[in-house]
Amino acid sequence: MNERLKVFIETYGCQMNVSDTELVFSILTNNNIEISDSIDDADIIIFNTCSVRQHAEERVIGRINNEMSRKSRKQDLKIGVIGCMAQRLGEKLIERNKGIDFVVGTDQYRKLPEIITNLFVNPQFKKNIIINNKEMYDGLYPIHKGNFNAFATIMRGCNNFCSYCIVPYVRGRERSRDYRDIIKEVEELGKKNFKEITLLGQNVNSYNYKGLNFAELLKRVNRISSIERIRFVTSHPKDLSKEVIAIMKDSAKICEHIHLPVQSGDNKILKKMNRGYTVEHYSALVDSLRKALPGISITTDIITGFPGESEKQFQNTLDLMTKIEFDYAFTFKYSPRSGTEAANYNNQIPEEERLARLQKLISLQEKITLKKYKDQIGKIKEIYVEKVSKKSKLELSGKSRDYKITVFPGDESLIGKFVNVLITEATGWTLKGKLFDEQVKPKQHNKLCK
Ligand code: SAH
Ligand code: SF4
Ligand code: F3S
Repeated sequence: MNERLKVFIETYGCQMNVSDTELVFSILTNNNIEISDSIDDADIIIFNTCSVRQHAEERVIGRINNEMSRKSRKQDLKIGVIGCMAQRLGEKLIERNKGIDFVVGTDQYRKLPEIITNLFVNPQFKKNIIINNKEMYDGLYPIHKGNFNAFATIMRGCNNFCSYCIVPYVRGRERSRDYRDIIKEVEELGKKNFKEITLLGQNVNSYNYKGLNFAELLKRVNRISSIERIRFVTSHPKDLSKEVIAIMKDSAKICEHIHLPVQSGDNKILKKMNRGYTVEHYSALVDSLRKALPGISITTDIITGFPGESEKQFQNTLDLMTKIEFDYAFTFKYSPRSGTEAANYNNQIPEEERLARLQKLISLQEKITLKKYKDQIGKIKEIYVEKVSKKSKLELSGKSRDYKITVFPGDESLIGKFVNVLITEATGWTLKGKLFDEQVKPKQHNKLCK
């Protein structure tokens, strides 16, 4: 084959998968394989998949089956699956879905160029899902596809084994990336005009590279002059230290937003989930965060219908939501994952009940979110302008430091800039406003720039 092979990747799941796709872009292009933005042009279609809930897997299988018909039109077309579902199911995925040509797990992406090239010569190859707890993809730098904001992976894997969660099984053990590589990557991003970066890991608060902890890493990233905003996900309540909260307060670039999954508002359920904290500990953290960073936005994840969850225990979650008033909550009904501890519990809650509780949770959170967003009316907020609004060509859309999508009338020339917007309206999860002043240099929110 003389022409370069073209690969199209469709990504599902969390930010870690988005970041891995960018890593795979880099691995492929380094090996003379082209990345295609169009599925129609591709010689190879890859699905980067998620296993976190049954529904996530079903969705991808549906998509893969849809694209199978392309094989009758393009004989040489190959379809591959990578990511967490590839890791979880391996061979079974191929047995159940005959058209899948190859399956590659989360620690084997370096092998992708060889696997892809060989496929056309030796179609016998099927899978490589060996977990390699040492694989950090050192020396590789992702190709970031977005504009303005980019993810930087700081760690891989997870050691927490929350009893409901598949992630530790499909991502291997927790390991932290060399801070010098992270700094180098972020500096490069700054040079490419990415002004906002999000540090990524399943549990960023336990980052530790040869004794250098997350607080120290944040301090170092905060010193990179070309970066204006720093975010990080995900924080774990058991590991979020006073030191990190202090750095958040003192480091000008760290945004006033934290995603802090609580999962449940009941201590017994938290214990069964193996989360390692209590409701009291969580509430105290929220108090410290709000004291250190007044107005900080707090978002969370919550699961309904965990095995054995009683009506009363579910009510405790609703009560906690009312008390804390999260800016936003990602809510999920419990999905049993084979191989996890909770999937074997014999007190599973019926599907309809899990769903009914989920709906109650969503409707409570909708009210709280609207209230929190309405509290913003009259405020002047710094917005990093990302794009023309989907709904109107005359409006722009961007995000505030506290992670609220904000839409306002403005000229396209402001895209990529920081502006001040006066908030005049709040709908669902969007703020609306009008341009207050155009400014190039972001405001430093009276924090000390260290
Ligand atoms: N490492 C992160 C995110 C993990 S996955 C963390 O610890 O917060 C994202 C969210 O999916 C979790 O926070 C949890 O709320 C949800 N989740 C994970 N496993 C689930 C399951 N089996 N059923 C339903 N929701 C689940
Ligand atoms: Fe899953 Fe818990 Fe690890 Fe998050 S911390 S990835 S919920 S095991
Ligand atoms: Fe992320 Fe889903 Fe894997 S949440 S780590 S892509 S199982």
